[in-house]
Amino acid sequence: MAEIALLKDRRIILAVCGSIAVYKAVDLASKLTQAGAQVDVIMTEAAQRFVHPLTFQAVSGRPVYSDMWRAEIGGGLPSHIAHIGLAEGADLLMVAPATANTLAKLAHGFADDLLSVTVLAAGCPLLVAPAMDGGMIEHRAVQDNLDMLRQRGAHLIEPETGRLASGLTGGGRLPETPTLIGHIRRILGLGGELSGHKLVVTAGGTREALDPVRYLSNRSTGKQGFAIAQAAIDAGADVVLISSAEVLPPLVGATLVDVDSAQSMLEAVLAQVADASALIMAAAVADYRPRSVSQQKIKKADEWLNLPLERNPDILMAVKAQREKTGYPKIVVGFAAESENLLENASGKLQAKRLDLLVANDISASDAGFAVDTNRVVVLDMDGGMHTIDLTSKAAIGDTIIKRVGGLLA
Ligand code: CTP
Repeated sequence: MAEIALLKDRRIILAVCGSIAVYKAVDLASKLTQAGAQVDVIMTEAAQRFVHPLTFQAVSGRPVYSDMWRAEIGGGLPSHIAHIGLAEGADLLMVAPATANTLAKLAHGFADDLLSVTVLAAGCPLLVAPAMDGGMIEHRAVQDNLDMLRQRGAHLIEPETGRLASGLTGGGRLPETPTLIGHIRRILGLGGELSGHKLVVTAGGTREALDPVRYLSNRSTGKQGFAIAQAAIDAGADVVLISSAEVLPPLVGATLVDVDSAQSMLEAVLAQVADASALIMAAAVADYRPRSVSQQKIKKADEWLNLPLERNPDILMAVKAQREKTGYPKIVVGFAAESENLLENASGKLQAKRLDLLVANDISASDAGFAVDTNRVVVLDMDGGMHTIDLTSKAAIGDTIIKRVGGLLA
């Protein structure tokens, strides 16, 4: 797992209860640590029946806390009193998995173990991920406790439905690590430099139908667009992700609008940008579509198949026209995928589409552009500025683009 700028050196308390889902919390502690966070784990007594504290200590590289009566504690915490030291200066307290018993204690303000006293002492946001078996989550008592926590400002992660440890199928599963980290990022991003701003991001290659089974598309996977949307969530924006990407997991904290053709993307974009601060058009929109869509599967016949294509609308040109009338979106960022004359073609697009920023990438390199996790781009602005970003992760490029957008909106 690569470092995540938002998580770098942030102090996260991961409080773990006694549930079979503890094994997922081990992975979470490991991935958060790899991402750059400082993870302090608190284990209830019941949690230690499932996993030994040494496991968490090994993956977090820090002491694990469980005994509220132990006077001296390590880990360089600000105070020698365990729950005060842990709570002081923490950026987030996450209870995962949270059992029915611990939820009841937290809802009613109990303070009889290190986890519950630390929750009372902590001033940071509280994120609770319940996990339990066999319909327990549906019980009125549990639901009432969840409501109470919610009303008090705690953030709750909805458990997933699926196979439970008992062999039953139902609600109560702890989501997997990427989803849990998505929730952490959303909460740590709240109040960030883009909070209060709506950002619309497009991602993926459009699909232009040919017949009921076939379409024309391109090599775009949507990875760069998703990375930009994630960076915008990290910065606290309200993100709408208009996507034609097929295989990427949904992003926690973004409103997803699924589209498929250029026409459907156009309609979604024009509707969403009407009140948006910025549009980042990372999608690879097909310039042409089949002139007619066959209602039946096209059968093979002759040696040659003639496929007349017609021009698709240019979404950025339509946005430009709408923006001239309404002033929205305030900022527009385009992309240029070029296989030759990168800068010349890119600056032509910047001017023609009246963009504030244009991110140009040379798609002829195998380590940049479509499908891979890395990219190498040049960011052009309307004042003639040019900023080269050498080969790096798409996540890092997303962060840079979002910083530039933040600068323009400030
Ligand atoms: N774009 C768009 N609508 C289209 C085609 C492209 O809004 N029908 C957007 C892309 O999302 C990108 C920018 O325009 O942000 C440039 O896309 P690109 O494919 O590089 O260039 P085109 O304008 O399509 O020009 P050409 O294909 O001739 O290079």
